[in-house]
Amino acid sequence: MIKIIGTGRKLPERSVSNDELAAMVDTSDEWITSRTGIKNRFVCTKESLTDLAEGAARIALEKANLSPQEIEMIICPTIAGDFSFPSLACCLAQRLNVKCPAFDINAACSGFIYGLEIAESLISKYKNILIVGADMMSRLIDWNDRASCVLFGDGAGACVVTSGGALKYIRNNADANPEMLFAKSRTGNSPFTNEESDGGFAAMQGQDVYKFAVTAVGEEINLALAKLNLSAADIDYFVLHQANSRIIDGVRTRLKQPPEKFPMNIDKYANTTAATIPILLDEMIDEEKVKTGNTLMMVGFGAGMTTGTCVMVWE
Ligand code: UT7
Repeated sequence: MIKIIGTGRKLPERSVSNDELAAMVDTSDEWITSRTGIKNRFVCTKESLTDLAEGAARIALEKANLSPQEIEMIICPTIAGDFSFPSLACCLAQRLNVKCPAFDINAACSGFIYGLEIAESLISKYKNILIVGADMMSRLIDWNDRASCVLFGDGAGACVVTSGGALKYIRNNADANPEMLFAKSRTGNSPFTNEESDGGFAAMQGQDVYKFAVTAVGEEINLALAKLNLSAADIDYFVLHQANSRIIDGVRTRLKQPPEKFPMNIDKYANTTAATIPILLDEMIDEEKVKTGNTLMMVGFGAGMTTGTCVMVWE
């Protein structure tokens, strides 16, 4: 069993408004705001993803009152680190001057919840585990494609996990459908294939992703509630992946819950993929929203199509 004892977040310095994007592609603040809830995002200019991960990790360690050397495992949920190899987690371990098992996992926007389940299964052997969800979608999106470039931002969110009784439920799943949302790997220059590069840009069937999200997230929430014999009213906060405020509102309306129980920060940061949930959690803790004894349900969804759901009673 695990609990979270420290959280942190780090965004790049450069902020990009909808109006700035409207000067680059055929879009408008009105379209982006009304369809997604996004007003702004942060984009790396001089920072590496390792810089963001390190920034978030150091804040989480400080809040956990631990030195980096007390970390016994590093897990980085990410779509793509600064290198194909070594992992982002190994780059982070170097920055923190830590020698321990360090590896990345890719479950797209559900990665943070996948990371929690791995931590849960290994906590009897590794005392303190650092999980850093970090992504730099600005290098994976086509900045000429208005359908995708307005949706994403860069960022990192971290947490330190140790033994405890907070985690009451966790379930990760993949409803295998890789064509719905993807970015192809680089093709290289192998003389043994004629495969041509498509640029490796993120592509998606937006409406299908939208429908998948509202349906799958609703189903996963109901499954968790049934398993724990709880109703939606028993959950203090639903901490959902921040991809689109309309997706979150759609789920919330079906559950007949008030907006305050579904915190959002998508207006400020857009979709930071594996980082959205830990960034939001860290903000909620800084704002003293999360109190001991509160029940939180965290739900991620993303490419794969993956989902990840957990319930924690805050300790
Ligand atoms: O972590 C998971 C990541 N992805 C998601 O969560 C995405 C889920 N899907 C969505 O959030 C929504 O489907 C979008 C926000 C991506 C799109 O909203 P929509 O209401 O489904 O719009 P649409 O794709 O049906 O497009 C409507 C119109 C189209 O024009 P026509 O064909 O009606 O003339 C698009 O070409 O809006 C156009 N459009 C835009 N217009 C202005 C698409 N992108 C833009 C844009 N600005 N940025």
